Amino acid sequence: MIVTRTIAETRAALRSLPRPLGFTPTMGALHNGHLSLVDAAKTRCASVAASLFVNPTQFGRDEDLGRYPRDEARDLQRFEGAGVDVVFAPNADEMYPEGFSTGIHVAGALTATYEGASRSSHFDGVAIIVTKLLGVVQPDVLFLGEKDAQQLAVIRRVVHDLDLTVEVASIPTVREPDGLAMSSRNAYLTAEQRAVAPDLYRALLAGRAAAGAPAATTKDVVVAATTALLMPGLPLDDAERVAALRGEAPPAAPRFDLDYLAIVDADTFRPQSTIGPRSLLIAAARLGAIRLIDNVSLSPSAYPATDATT
Ligand code: PAF
Repeated sequence: MIVTRTIAETRAALRSLPRPLGFTPTMGALHNGHLSLVDAAKTRCASVAASLFVNPTQFGRDEDLGRYPRDEARDLQRFEGAGVDVVFAPNADEMYPEGFSTGIHVAGALTATYEGASRSSHFDGVAIIVTKLLGVVQPDVLFLGEKDAQQLAVIRRVVHDLDLTVEVASIPTVREPDGLAMSSRNAYLTAEQRAVAPDLYRALLAGRAAAGAPAATTKDVVVAATTALLMPGLPLDDAERVAALRGEAPPAAPRFDLDYLAIVDADTFRPQSTIGPRSLLIAAARLGAIRLIDNVSLSPSAYPATDATT
């Protein structure tokens, strides 16, 4: 595996690789979700490139850029073990040199709502870095995870609007055995929060189950999922019953603070009033300071999205 630090080195290393070339951009802190993108790229492409860059422009002022988990040696080992051919791991000056002045803004609801509403300019940062990386790597297929469904829709929009000659392939979310979607930020969860965190996915599944009922409405789905998340209604376990009988307060489980839970179109992220073939049930909720996002499709055809370029 070749590790490159500059754009020139990367172009030189990629020039001799057999095509098609698959590419998976990452910010490191690799988990099996990232490696599933590499696996998909290896299955479809003759060569695989990846990037490792914690992109400062997609973090808000109050976000976790400074403490975002970084372990380059471990990440490079994992990429090598997964069979990546070239890893581009630049520093911020290489990507945003003095005088860098260009931006990409996808206008409208797609970037202003949901993740965009609570993380203003986040998608501008994602759009510019992914476009730049595509310019450097020039892959045939870009592999992105479905967990970040709004990011996926934004990047598809950019690729379509700018006529970039790359196919965007979306890869299903990889989950822990208890259903929690893998994310680099899961490392921040306390043991108590980690125990509760899979309830977000369970709530989405409750919503999906409600969607399967005859004549189900979007309201039925949202109510079922919200109820499952905020009022799990689990019976007290023995320890809690004993504590309650003794008049001791049971240990308080961490509680979700719901940011949004909605049914949207997978391409536009406009809210939907009826369940259709492109419906996604999306949610974001906080456990303490940690914000979790997840989504499920309400129809088998919501993923893969229609590729804008093919
Ligand atoms: O999903 C991520 O890890 C990042 O947003 C990406 C696509 C690598 C751009 O920095």
